[in-house]
Amino acid sequence: MANQSGSLTDTLRRVIVLGTGGTIAGRAARPGDNIGYSAAEVGVAELLAGIDAPAGVTLHAEQVAQVDSKDMEFTIWLALALRCEHWLAMDDVAGVVITHGTDTLEETAFFLQSVMAPGKPVVLTCAMRPASALSPDGPQNVRDAIVVAATPGARGVVAVCAGTIHTALDVRKVHPYRLDPFSSGDAGALGYVEEGLVRPVRDWPGGEPTVVLKSPIGAPPRVEIVTSHAGARGAVVDALVRERQAGAPDAVQGLVLAATGNGTLHHDLEAAAMRAQEAGIVVLRATRCGDGRILPKPSDALRDAGGLSPVKARISLMLELLGTVR
Ligand code: SIN
Repeated sequence: MANQSGSLTDTLRRVIVLGTGGTIAGRAARPGDNIGYSAAEVGVAELLAGIDAPAGVTLHAEQVAQVDSKDMEFTIWLALALRCEHWLAMDDVAGVVITHGTDTLEETAFFLQSVMAPGKPVVLTCAMRPASALSPDGPQNVRDAIVVAATPGARGVVAVCAGTIHTALDVRKVHPYRLDPFSSGDAGALGYVEEGLVRPVRDWPGGEPTVVLKSPIGAPPRVEIVTSHAGARGAVVDALVRERQAGAPDAVQGLVLAATGNGTLHHDLEAAAMRAQEAGIVVLRATRCGDGRILPKPSDALRDAGGLSPVKARISLMLELLGTVR
């Protein structure tokens, strides 16, 4: 396993910090208010003020976006991928840190890993308290993310929060308030950052990008998520099919069904999903369960997304429809 000691080399290297907004860049009217703030107000250069870079590392800040991550868009993902590729190609750049809201961090991380699978680290970090808080958590998270980005042997897209490193594949936000809101589920964390040292307990993510995007990249294919639940109905899916049959310009091309348990669907929704598939919509089932994966059966009439959560399955399907799956 790479870099068990976590020690940094003493050659001068750069870590690039890309800002996208989020609570980490949020401001509230009162320091004691940790929830009534506006996200995405403080610039990324300001977030770095007072953060001591590890020895031999210089920092460079760049603002790519300034949004509350609930409003994250595909265009920002593309811009981030392009800026990461630009910086990572430079020999003296050890890695990239991305400051991001926690709400869709797992989606951005999964997108970037899918299209880049970088050989250097791309580290998403965040905060649960705004920058104006009495005791903000952002500065330590940014410091830890910079340490990971500067660590020799680190690679792939990961998330760092509350001293814990998660892979893009496994990370999932599981708590709306506490300072350690992420889990890697069954897989467990990739490692930890402790007093400026990285302690990996699993291998860094490797491999190749799962898709090759065709250039130029236009509007992303529309992929919707519909949840199966007690009393679920197929009406929403049928409406999407009708829209498509009427030739709507942004008609749905893909449908992710957030399925119960091992990929099961309410019978009414399942019937509508079959009609959608017959109408040419690509349908994928992803389990609503936080852990585990769908175990496929020979009788399955609808594809499954394995262990991907519904939001990650949606990205995977968008990329499949957009590009060339490896
Ligand atoms: C956001 O995701 O941008 C707001 C919430 C957060 O960062 O915790």
